[in-house]
Amino acid sequence: MKPLLETRNLVMRFGGVTAVNEVDFLLEEGELRCLIGPNGAGKSTFFKCLTGQYIPTAGEILFRGKPITGLNSHDIARLGVGIKTQVPNVFNGLSVQENIWVSARRGRTPRMTARIVEEAMARVGIADLAARAVGELAHGQRQLVELAIVLAAEPALILLDEPAAGMTHEETERLAAIIREINRTQALIVVEHDMQFVRMIARKVTVFHQGAVLVEDDVEAVMRDARVRDVYLGKRVAA
Ligand SMILES: Nc1ncnc2c1ncn2[C@@H]1O[C@H](COP(=O)(O)OP(=O)(O)OP(=O)(O)O)[C@@H](O)[C@H]1O
Ligand SMILES: [Mg+2]
Repeated sequence: MKPLLETRNLVMRFGGVTAVNEVDFLLEEGELRCLIGPNGAGKSTFFKCLTGQYIPTAGEILFRGKPITGLNSHDIARLGVGIKTQVPNVFNGLSVQENIWVSARRGRTPRMTARIVEEAMARVGIADLAARAVGELAHGQRQLVELAIVLAAEPALILLDEPAAGMTHEETERLAAIIREINRTQALIVVEHDMQFVRMIARKVTVFHQGAVLVEDDVEAVMRDARVRDVYLGKRVAA
């Protein structure tokens, strides 16, 4: 079977900084992968190369076996790659429902759009917030709205950049359950610093360090790995 996503020798440089350094990455159809690593390891930059926000300096990106390197972000989104970025990406003055509508309506009839908006809200458990202005919601609720916005575009691959950041423990547990449910129909790559959260959702984990893949293994092996403890986990209280 063809992998869903593959990068070959992917490099992204900013002047003298090599943010992504010769990354070979493989994601199978239906997989849920966690991506961890210290601040500045290149996780967000890797995501931005995958979505076409950055044009990689070198290397190749294949989605369902087709090269997508250098395509613009609209075309990549249309092929089925969705992202929830680290920076909020919502219209505060619009309601929850309206925000999701904007994402769902592309190429669809109003009736289909309405159904998809309902489904996306139900899937992340925010139907009761439909009419509320996004700007007046609590942080954890806004994160769920952003997740529903991504879902409404019905991507085959979902990239989540630190979705649990700033959430309470209870919200984090709920998010983990939502992500596992989403993974029944879609592949995901989740960047996260919260190792308790990673353990709730992860099977295979990729560890980035200085732009390169340091270790790739199942979650328990990664937590025990001396190199990972040395560059990352040893410095984190949660570990
Ligand atoms: N647009 C940019 N211009 C110049 N340098 C950049 C740019 N974006 C990222 N970098 C640099 O690339 C490196 C990787 O940054 P990146 O944001 O990808 O790390 P990260 O793993 O997402 O970190 P964090 O866990 O803090 O979010 C850092 O050294 C950063 O300063
Ligand atoms: Mg980042």
